[in-house]
Amino acid sequence: MDVHVLTQSAYDTTADLVAVGLRGGNPPQLPPILVQRFGSALNDLMGAEEFEAKAETTLALPTLGKLGSPRLLLLGLGDAGIDDLRAAAGAAGIAARASGAETVILDLSAAGLDRQHALAVVEGFAAGNYKFDRLKRESKRKAACSSLSLVPGGIITSDLSEALAVAEAQTTVRNLVNEPSNVLYPETLAAFAASLSSDSLQVEIWDERRIEAEGMGGLFAVGRGSARPPRFVHMHYRPAGKPVASVALVGKGVTYDSGGMSLKTSESQQVMRCDMAGAGTVVGVMQAVHSLGLQIELHGIFGAAENMNAADSYKLGDVLTMFDGTTVEVHNTDAEGRLVLADCLVYASRLDVDYCLDLATLTGACVVALGSRYSGLFTEDDGLAQQLLTAAKSAGDGLWRLPLAPHFTKALDCEWADTNHMGPRWGGASIAAAFLSRFVDGPRWAHIDIAGPAFLDKPERYYVKGASGAMLRAVLRWLQGLEAS
Ligand code: BES
Ligand code: MN
Ligand code: ZN
Repeated sequence: MDVHVLTQSAYDTTADLVAVGLRGGNPPQLPPILVQRFGSALNDLMGAEEFEAKAETTLALPTLGKLGSPRLLLLGLGDAGIDDLRAAAGAAGIAARASGAETVILDLSAAGLDRQHALAVVEGFAAGNYKFDRLKRESKRKAACSSLSLVPGGIITSDLSEALAVAEAQTTVRNLVNEPSNVLYPETLAAFAASLSSDSLQVEIWDERRIEAEGMGGLFAVGRGSARPPRFVHMHYRPAGKPVASVALVGKGVTYDSGGMSLKTSESQQVMRCDMAGAGTVVGVMQAVHSLGLQIELHGIFGAAENMNAADSYKLGDVLTMFDGTTVEVHNTDAEGRLVLADCLVYASRLDVDYCLDLATLTGACVVALGSRYSGLFTEDDGLAQQLLTAAKSAGDGLWRLPLAPHFTKALDCEWADTNHMGPRWGGASIAAAFLSRFVDGPRWAHIDIAGPAFLDKPERYYVKGASGAMLRAVLRWLQGLEAS
């Protein structure tokens, strides 16, 4: 998608769709040119439809030859805060996709866009315009928008390439997560990561033999029952200049989670191709950081495995030896994500980075606690928590801190090995985080459980059903914050 700042009239330029943001009111204030072209008809229509331009509301109508575009979309801006703007742009993106509009004009000048607002608008529009229809027959697909024109307002700058890089990365994540597990499995996920290689982005991949030989007993065990063997992936981005910080991002890359011997129900299995969303987010962030050229040394690390139920599967009561030598007794093969992550966290700790952040669709307990709009944040580092919460807020990603404290580790006391990997049901998301914390040594660390928002079972805000790319924008904002500080 191209984005331009429009220099001609938004209402006379030819496009497939023109969308205009209106501030909340009764009736909402229209741009004079629309009153001039439509007389009182628009006010009458808004009255009849009770459209008061509240945030996240829209009204679509044909223009009957009165404007350059055949269709006009009125977007409610509410108070025109940044979240309202992102949602309004998202609604325009959704409407454009529903009708296959390839050229779109977006007039949000009623809000007065500064740079942050303009970036949010482009990101919101792109998020709304997304749909995963690659697997449908051609005649059933609707075109995505190829050209978005923004009406200048306030001090909008014309350089929106940053927002486009973010939007593109978010699309990458959503595509990876939506892709079915017969297409996207450890080898193909690793191959996609490798396809991003360049002079400044190196990618190293370990196959199942190397994983076993290196002693990554968690990742190896989880991947063992599958005909699609596991992969360990280390992406390493080095900026041209001297980096201001070094960061490791770690992702859970379970390309399909059947639960293994502790088999999930059919209903729970149905969507478990989403279980590599953490790794997908790591890949997306690497892509964006590389294209933005951030002055941060960034490692993207993930273990990719398919958790299957087969003759070779790991079993309950097995004792695994992890990458750092810790022995772990298995109590439920469906608590596989933490085993994969633990090995990756040991690897990340050895890189001597300043920060380590892991992202994972880790627990149903986190979904029970927070629902589908908030990811759970776990860290004992208050400063880091504040940085991440601030970044998430400005990115429009829901993030809520849940407890991580030493006493949760007691729930993991084990009779036969150094530790259990799970404990009682209550507080399950915090217990999982406590297990992970055992494997981090050195960097400032936070764990983010994205199990709720990563994959939506119904449309929400500017997201269609399925993968959302949750936390991608937040992590990028956080990295940009580190770069600036
Ligand atoms: N992948 C699941 C968690 C999940 C649940 C992700 C819902 C997305 C949506 C994870 O591997 C899992 O199965 N966790 C178990 C852990 C339990 C056995 C301790 C869970 O949450 O039930
Ligand atoms: Mn599981
Ligand atoms: Zn899982």
